[in-house]
Amino acid sequence: MTAKPIVREVLPADLRQDRLPKHVAVIMDGNGRWAKNRGLPRIMGHRRGVDSLKRLLRCCRDWGVGALTAYAFSTENWGRPLEEVDFLMTLFERVLRQELAEMMEENVRIRFVGNLSGLPQSLRAEIDRAVIQTQRNQGIQFTVATNYGGRQEIIQACQAIATQVQKGQIQPEDIDETLFTRHLYTAEIGDPDLLIRTSGEMRISNFLLWQLAYAEIYVTPTLWPDFDQTEFHQALHAYQQRERRFGKVR
Ligand code: FPP
Repeated sequence: MTAKPIVREVLPADLRQDRLPKHVAVIMDGNGRWAKNRGLPRIMGHRRGVDSLKRLLRCCRDWGVGALTAYAFSTENWGRPLEEVDFLMTLFERVLRQELAEMMEENVRIRFVGNLSGLPQSLRAEIDRAVIQTQRNQGIQFTVATNYGGRQEIIQACQAIATQVQKGQIQPEDIDETLFTRHLYTAEIGDPDLLIRTSGEMRISNFLLWQLAYAEIYVTPTLWPDFDQTEFHQALHAYQQRERRFGKVR
């Protein structure tokens, strides 16, 4: 049997390679509405949402965006109907199992951020397997925020730092941005340059509160299952028109 050739998309001519975001974060919103608009159960929207995420990951890899972080499940999402929560947990587990071989082939390194101890044991086992197997991959860095909350992340960092102070390992005046950043779930992946949110909501919904401090924000009315390559192209185009000043004057 011959191996399936990996077809790579070329960067559209109107985008500049040297001005691409290094790290894109995405709030994948609108799955439920997408399904409702078609008279389908909400879970069908989540299923289609997985296809959009796979498409975006490939596109990032092909066009040269080095890192993608996706908000899959927030600490607030436990408040959804039990059947939907159960469906999502099973979906994450199944997708991880099914996609691991392809992630290895495509050199993807997957990581998870969030309070992973609060997830079902069987999902944690799949997460551990995928994280360990892909840890030496040098291609795109793919991070999935699951049972993630930005405030909760900041609180756990504060607790860890306070414990170090209490033990006399560091002094209060040693606490600076660099030290704080090291205690976040994202210590190894850095801050996003661009945040994309679908479905038109103008919120960051407790996502990467510290890390998004200087990210450019792009909101599209498109619902997540319809977010495709053309949409991503538009988001990158908008990003390249922005002047990033990080609070300074040119
Ligand atoms: C938000 O839409 C979407 C979610 C809470 C789930 C997103 C998860 C996926 C797309 C699956 C990703 C899979 C892996 C393995 C990472 P919503 O339900 O809030 O939509 P609504 O606002 O229209 O109700």
